[in-house]
Amino acid sequence: MTDVPSSRKEAVTASAPAKVILFGEHFVVYGEPAVVIAIDKRAYATAKLRKDEKIHVGSVDMRVSGTFKGAKFQAEKGGAKAQAKLEPVKNAVQQVLTTANKKAGMDVTISSDIPVSAGLGSSAAVATSTIVAAGHLLGVELSRDQIFRLAYETERLVHGTPSGIDPAIATYGGTLQFQKGKDFETLKVEANVPLVIGNTEVERSTGELVAAVRHMREKHRYIIEPVMKTGGRIALLAVEALKKGDLESVGDMMNINHGLLCAVGVSHEALERLVYAARESGALGAKLTGGGGGGCMVALAEEKKLNRVTTAIVQAGGTAFQVRKTDEGVRVEP
Ligand code: MEV
Repeated sequence: MTDVPSSRKEAVTASAPAKVILFGEHFVVYGEPAVVIAIDKRAYATAKLRKDEKIHVGSVDMRVSGTFKGAKFQAEKGGAKAQAKLEPVKNAVQQVLTTANKKAGMDVTISSDIPVSAGLGSSAAVATSTIVAAGHLLGVELSRDQIFRLAYETERLVHGTPSGIDPAIATYGGTLQFQKGKDFETLKVEANVPLVIGNTEVERSTGELVAAVRHMREKHRYIIEPVMKTGGRIALLAVEALKKGDLESVGDMMNINHGLLCAVGVSHEALERLVYAARESGALGAKLTGGGGGGCMVALAEEKKLNRVTTAIVQAGGTAFQVRKTDEGVRVEP
């Protein structure tokens, strides 16, 4: 291992986008295609070198901080829950140090516009921006493919069988047709895709939901496998509709996809309220997005109906915001 020269740039900030899965969450873990869009909300990681080999991590939004020295953790803010929340960031830094074959300590500060534990890819955006900030700080050249692989490994430590969809979109941005183990495709979507996100504010763990779906699939394999296959067909039909700008069909596909996600047990009554409120106020389609079990839903609506759908989601008990797609994946901030 080589030590890091101390003459490098003092602090580097990188950012990565949040995501909305339009089609195929959960089924993508079993090899079905999915469609995911990067959106205009980002997580930021700032990395600074330390004189020792400790890794200090602080999250402005989660109000937790503490220091890792090897496997030992000393909480500073946030008590017992701090370690679990900060461990993925420490893992991301360690992935970079191992790849670069370097020994160093770092202070990493996270701040984010992305709601946490809500299905919008906050943890992958944090891991990806941390990897890029730490890499630049150490003067290590990482290709986008390497960044994706390191972010994927970090995600694997959080939940054992990730499809890779979250780190992929945080790394590359844009609109991706994603399939586990295959090269993903950047989709050229010319049409404006006006979206409203509704957050139930019910926090949940993606890992637990992925495990629940696994259990359901093992218990009722002959029923759940065809459900997942149908989910895959929906994603492919939706890709064609998106390319043609046929938003009405995209909306229909979202509604059917939501039904399948209910069938595998990942909806929640708070999600149902927001999904139905969006549809009744004129959305072309609405579904849960990400892990489900709470977290967020997404509605597609014509531009002129966006405000009406947003208000309906709020009246049904959610918080709501309109989002735009962004082509920019992870980047170093000036
Ligand atoms: C989480 O954003 C998406 C899931 O499909 C899990 C994964 O693909 O790793 C639920």
